[in-house]
Amino acid sequence: MLLMQRTKPLPAGKMDTLRTLSVCLVFLLPLLSSAQNDACELSASPAGCVCSGPNVVCTGYWPTYRELHSGDIDSKLESLTITNTTKTNLIKCESVFGTLTNLRKLDLSNNQINFTRPRSFSSICFPNLEQLVLDDNALRLSAHTTFKSLDRLRELHLNNALYRNQSVSEQVTHTFIKSSMPSLEEIMLNDNLLGDLSSSTFNFNLSSGSSPLSRIHLRNSRLGMINTNLFEVETLPNLSFIDLSMNSITGLPIENLESFDKFSSALTINLTGNPLTCNCNLKDFVVWLQSNDTEVTVVDQEKLNCSMDSIVHGGKRIIDLDPMELKCGHIQNTDMDEQMKTSYILLIAVLSIIGLLALVILFMRRKEIIKLCNQMKQATKETFDTHHTSYVYSDITQARRETPEHSAVDV
Ligand SMILES: *[C@@H]1O[C@H](CO)[C@@H](O)[C@H](O)[C@H]1NC(C)=O
Ligand SMILES: *[C@@H]1O[C@H](CO)[C@@H](O)[C@H](O)[C@H]1NC(C)=O
Ligand SMILES: *[C@@H]1O[C@H](CO)[C@@H](O)[C@H](O)[C@H]1NC(C)=O
Ligand SMILES: *[C@@H]1O[C@H](CO)[C@@H](O)[C@H](O)[C@H]1NC(C)=O
Ligand SMILES: *[C@@H]1O[C@H](CO)[C@@H](O)[C@H](O)[C@H]1NC(C)=O
Ligand SMILES: *[C@@H]1O[C@H](CO)[C@@H](O)[C@H](O)[C@H]1NC(C)=O
Ligand SMILES: *[C@@H]1O[C@H](CO)[C@@H](O)[C@H](O)[C@H]1NC(C)=O
Ligand SMILES: *[C@@H]1O[C@H](CO)[C@@H](O)[C@H](O)[C@H]1NC(C)=O
Repeated sequence: MLLMQRTKPLPAGKMDTLRTLSVCLVFLLPLLSSAQNDACELSASPAGCVCSGPNVVCTGYWPTYRELHSGDIDSKLESLTITNTTKTNLIKCESVFGTLTNLRKLDLSNNQINFTRPRSFSSICFPNLEQLVLDDNALRLSAHTTFKSLDRLRELHLNNALYRNQSVSEQVTHTFIKSSMPSLEEIMLNDNLLGDLSSSTFNFNLSSGSSPLSRIHLRNSRLGMINTNLFEVETLPNLSFIDLSMNSITGLPIENLESFDKFSSALTINLTGNPLTCNCNLKDFVVWLQSNDTEVTVVDQEKLNCSMDSIVHGGKRIIDLDPMELKCGHIQNTDMDEQMKTSYILLIAVLSIIGLLALVILFMRRKEIIKLCNQMKQATKETFDTHHTSYVYSDITQARRETPEHSAVDV
């Protein structure tokens, strides 16, 4: 269009050349764009979806069972994304998806799924599923076998995925224990109202071998304390990263630190954005953080600050603290000391002012005072003089009296 408009003032010969060019472009453009998005490798694709290579993306449209089983989709489809629909209910997968033998990635993020059934995600339908994304839904994991025997699943994304009207940690724990996911390496549970997790949450019931789980994301999940047995090397030998950032963790007791230290693999922990409270309860953590004995890496440890709830150390960098200064029982005493100090300062100030006023008054009345002084001097002198003479007299008299040879009668 732009080309045609620009050609208007040009002579006829040149216009012909341009016309041929633009016609060429019109034919070339679709070819170019299809070269950018891989050509669909499936013989059929659901009508409301976009296919590229072995992947299908459906936005605002949920494909039917029949559409997913037309042509070679069920054997060739590798990645299926269905987002932005109003679907709320997921019954067992056989009725919704059927068996998709080659599916590696299923992304159902940003729908309104609030209800799942046993076997909503089962190896019957997804024998080769490696990545399951359920972000931004409102799932109630009421069915304990929601993720049934997904033997090859390596990544489970449940960010902002769980129903927000209740504490869901118990449901999560039950679901994980009952749903077998023996190959799971990464689990994302960010932005859910989890609350504190029970010790067995990630203790998957694996009949053979140990869990390969390596990365656990629990950012912004309302965690307050970390159950001592939640991250244990015995159940999670391959654990290498725990994201605990943006939670409500006020401190990590020695039991947590000891269980972290048992991981021989390089374990990294993100504690950014927690209200760590710098009092005696944080002492072990501070010592641990400052020592070089641990192989555990704390992300940005030099940026961890004491929360403003820390009475004495609020806002200070934790890495700079002297562990000996972290006190609890004495917090009130320290407070009292502070108050006493303030009182003393006030007292000294008041006394200084009074003293200063006295000096000023003295200075202003200096003439009277000098006069008074002189009068007093005079008076003293007179008294002294009289006293002096009488003293001398009486002295002599006394001396005489005290001399044993003389008696009062002699005088
Ligand atoms: C999702 O759907 C709504 C309407 O239902 C639409 O306005 C919005 O643009 C869609 N978002 C995406 C990312 O497609
Ligand atoms: C799921 O959401 C739909 C629509 O918002 C609602 O009618 C239904 O009751 C919800 N189901 C559950 C189990 O919350
Ligand atoms: C959330 O929970 C409250 C009380 O438990 C209840 O009144 C409310 O209806 C619930 N909301 C939804 C959407 O289920
Ligand atoms: C663990 O798995 C075994 C075999 O699959 C099962 O019998 C047992 O009940 C499971 N334990 C829990 C706590 O789910
Ligand atoms: C643990 O991780 C290492 C390398 O990251 C891997 O070779 C090993 O198989 C993993 N262990 C398990 C039980 O998956
Ligand atoms: C640690 O957590 C913070 C806050 O969630 C985030 O911004 C940062 O990128 C994280 N760092 C690492 C290394 O994970
Ligand atoms: C830890 O190592 C750093 C340098 O690597 C050193 O400055 C610091 O004093 C060491 N801390 C302890 C407690 O040994
Ligand atoms: C921690 O405190 C230091 C100064 O003490 C400040 O520069 C830094 O921004 C603070 N960090 C955070 C994450 O608030």
